Amino acid sequence: MALDRRVPGSPDGLPSADVTSLSHDGRGVARVEGKIVFIDDALPGERVRYRPGKRRRAYNTGAVVDVLTPSPRRVTAKCRYFGTCGGCTLQHLDPQAQLDIKQDQLIENLEKIGKTTPETVLPALHGPSWGYRRKARLGVRFVPKKGGVLVGFRERRKSFVTPLQDCEVLDPQISVLLPSLSDLIAGLSCPARIPQIEVAAGDNATALVFRHLDPMTDQDLKRLSRWGEEHRVQVFLQPGDLDSVYPLSPQNPEPLYYRLDEYGIDIEFCPTDFIQINREINRALVTAVVTLLELSATDHVLDLFCGLGNFTLPIARCAAEVTGCEGNRVLIERAKHNAERNECNNARFICADLDSEQSGEVLAQQQYNKLLLDPPRTGAIQVAKKLPQCDLERIVCVSCNPATLARDTEVIVNVHGFRLAAAGVVDMFPHTQHVESIAVYERR
Ligand SMILES: C[S@@+](CC[C@H](N)C(=O)[O-])C[C@H]1O[C@@H](n2cnc3c(N)ncnc32)[C@H](O)[C@@H]1O
Repeated sequence: MALDRRVPGSPDGLPSADVTSLSHDGRGVARVEGKIVFIDDALPGERVRYRPGKRRRAYNTGAVVDVLTPSPRRVTAKCRYFGTCGGCTLQHLDPQAQLDIKQDQLIENLEKIGKTTPETVLPALHGPSWGYRRKARLGVRFVPKKGGVLVGFRERRKSFVTPLQDCEVLDPQISVLLPSLSDLIAGLSCPARIPQIEVAAGDNATALVFRHLDPMTDQDLKRLSRWGEEHRVQVFLQPGDLDSVYPLSPQNPEPLYYRLDEYGIDIEFCPTDFIQINREINRALVTAVVTLLELSATDHVLDLFCGLGNFTLPIARCAAEVTGCEGNRVLIERAKHNAERNECNNARFICADLDSEQSGEVLAQQQYNKLLLDPPRTGAIQVAKKLPQCDLERIVCVSCNPATLARDTEVIVNVHGFRLAAAGVVDMFPHTQHVESIAVYERR
């Protein structure tokens, strides 16, 4: 049996292990002397030699030094920062294998937590696996010892920032800006007081929001505006909370939007708003949701956690009427504006906290026969518990967390008597450990 400590006779005295599965954060899982070891960069089916890391009561950690028997599904990571940058953890696994593993995680969660098996496993929705990310928050650190201003994603499980000159998963229009960002910030009066930059690419323009903890000087403002003009991007400043965000250059920028061609809909958004980060997959997901809801011109649909109306407005094109509900008042106002802009007169919006008693009131306000849920990671347990006894024929849920999806499924199926007709994964975040999925429930 392999030992999780220095092993006499082994090169460097390092232990080796057989990896049996992948953890939810993308690490290889092995059992050594009866104890679980999470090994960075190891894949299921591999035998690896590893450097032991932390020793905890319930598990140990380690990092691969040599892959002694590689998985046939191992590939060379495309990104030069792979291993350091915490943005992607699965680049060493071929994209189809990533999806297979995510699908296994989804089904396992549904079986273990949800105590249900989907009657049909939907084929994975997938799209381009590089250059897909149109929204990101970049960390900024001023570290003179490391050469000045570092801009990039956080290192794996650390608070350090990986300085990036490019990023393979970011939209190329954003990635191309990376090399000049550190020089730009280094030339400002307060480089140590800019903790992050939020970037968002619409179909029409790219915007950057610079969070700053100290006031900017006139010189700083000129420098930022000039940089924005040179790179043809919109520059926003954020001196305080989200309400403080304002455009610097141009002063009246054209609103960012993305188009959902199939429905003739443009969704306008502000650079700090929630949008689905993968343009292509979002289009496919909207179509999948509309199809799985089996919409007809007589349907009354409730879209909970509706955000800017990403699903609500396409649904409006295919149903008698739709109500979108969301907890963020600013997004509700934007959703109403989007409905007007796209002439969706059968869409209405209400603001409510769906994690509270209010969810029952929203569900009881009107009779709906179809329901869409797209909750945050915490899921939609209050909604699941308060589903009305009748009326609802069909529910579709889009989820970014298989564990909460499974928990909510247990209630929808075992308490309310729906069938889990189908479930499948959606490749929203290729190369990362994040699992997006979709589930369809039908009244038994
Ligand atoms: C995963 S996003 C989905 C947004 C939208 N469906 C889309 O496709 O762009 C989840 C949404 O739930 C909203 N939300 C989070 N917690 C909420 C709560 N307790 N009550 C109502 N909405 C909430 C967020 O503001 C966010 O817009």
